[in-house]
Amino acid sequence: MLLTLPDILNPDDLRAVREALRKAPWSDGGDSAGPQARAVKNNLQLPHDCEAAQTIRAMVLEGLDRSPSFFSAALPLKVFTPRINRYAGSSNAYGHHIDNAVRVLQGGERVRTDVSCTVFLNDPADYDGGELVVSDTYGEHRVKLPAGHAVIYPGTSLHQVTPVTRGERLACFFWVQSLVRSDEQRRLLFDFDMNLLALRQRLGETPETTALTGTYHNLLRQWADT
Ligand code: NI
Repeated sequence: MLLTLPDILNPDDLRAVREALRKAPWSDGGDSAGPQARAVKNNLQLPHDCEAAQTIRAMVLEGLDRSPSFFSAALPLKVFTPRINRYAGSSNAYGHHIDNAVRVLQGGERVRTDVSCTVFLNDPADYDGGELVVSDTYGEHRVKLPAGHAVIYPGTSLHQVTPVTRGERLACFFWVQSLVRSDEQRRLLFDFDMNLLALRQRLGETPETTALTGTYHNLLRQWADT
């Protein structure tokens, strides 16, 4: 499931992002990719521990915490440390690849990359190209969102970022290990949850919405690994 999450960052956050990035120590992005991905990866990233990365990462994680759709769609168990990247000039593209299945946090803990997330940090008018293209069984989805919006998609997807031919593209990206490994099961739970929410808004609490809430949790209990 590919889903847009609007307004993960607000205008104040985005101003703080621009400020944090004014003197950012960009370095080659190849260090966080596996061998196949490294061969097609040509962008810049911030080191994990620099001040700009820490500031932006904290804002992104707070924004995700405020997003009920993120929780319902990703059912996060662990989040891999968000990174910030830049596509511009001669470091401007990332060819077709699938992300590594498992990432290792600095303390050694492993995170399975069930869900991928990109948060767009600058406006689409600032650059040409730079589309995130995600391929699935329904074809190719081209994603280029307003600053502060995010997209999530299955970590199993083949994807690429097309060359930026003008300006710069700034984004924050990370992976989530979900309570529910299967994209199909997460999708069913998300649809269930969203329709239940809509029913409750329309009808208020009824014996049926209470029962369906129980069914939702019983399905989650069947499928969740903690
Ligand atoms: Ni990727």
